[in-house]
Amino acid sequence: IMIKRVVLISGNGSNLEAIAKACQNNSIPGSIELVISNQPDVKGLERAQKYHLMTQTISHTDFSSREDFDQALTERVLSIEPDLVVLAGFMRILTTQFTNAFAGKLINIHPSLLPEYPGLDTHKQALENGDLMHGVTIHYVDEGLDSGPIIAQGALKIDPSQSEAKLAQRIHKIEHALLPKVIAEISKGLISLKGKEVKFESKSYFGKNNMEFFNV
Ligand code: GAR
Repeated sequence: IMIKRVVLISGNGSNLEAIAKACQNNSIPGSIELVISNQPDVKGLERAQKYHLMTQTISHTDFSSREDFDQALTERVLSIEPDLVVLAGFMRILTTQFTNAFAGKLINIHPSLLPEYPGLDTHKQALENGDLMHGVTIHYVDEGLDSGPIIAQGALKIDPSQSEAKLAQRIHKIEHALLPKVIAEISKGLISLKGKEVKFESKSYFGKNNMEFFNV
């Protein structure tokens, strides 16, 4: 059976590229069937085309309400009948219309150690607060903002002399390592959502210690 995925982006798309690469070299079984961006002409769409992926822009500015946008998005994604929907730098809040339609099949990558810093400007906040650690979280999406059941986290030690841009770059390195690994395990049935809890099969790399430190 073919495993089908949809990836949603809003911009740069480096996480999308990490997933595409992993599909291409078979470290993730199955394929990306569709990449949707809510922003036209972004780098991520170019990256998708480099991997010969089907792309589509559904611009939220073409809709008069969040609900109408979400309905169009939901219908398009449903038409693919995906096994997994990945929010990879998708910068729109989704309504329950969308999150309910893909419950248990919808994951997000967020650049903080949730529940610390949901929302925007996470690197800036971590630096300004003098945090020692920062990181990324991959989680199932529920109806809340950056609040669903956590699958895996990757942490780094903050160097306070480094810029926000440098920190973002280090975070990206962790993301590109962690996200394909998590997607591979979900696709192999090693990770799933049971009710409100993440279930790890015994063979899962993440089960016993789903918070990993990265020396990046
Ligand atoms: C990533 O760092 C991702 O964690 C973050 O946007 C960046 C996208 O980078 N996502 C969010 O902030 C979601 N709230 P990319 O476009 O290069 O993959």
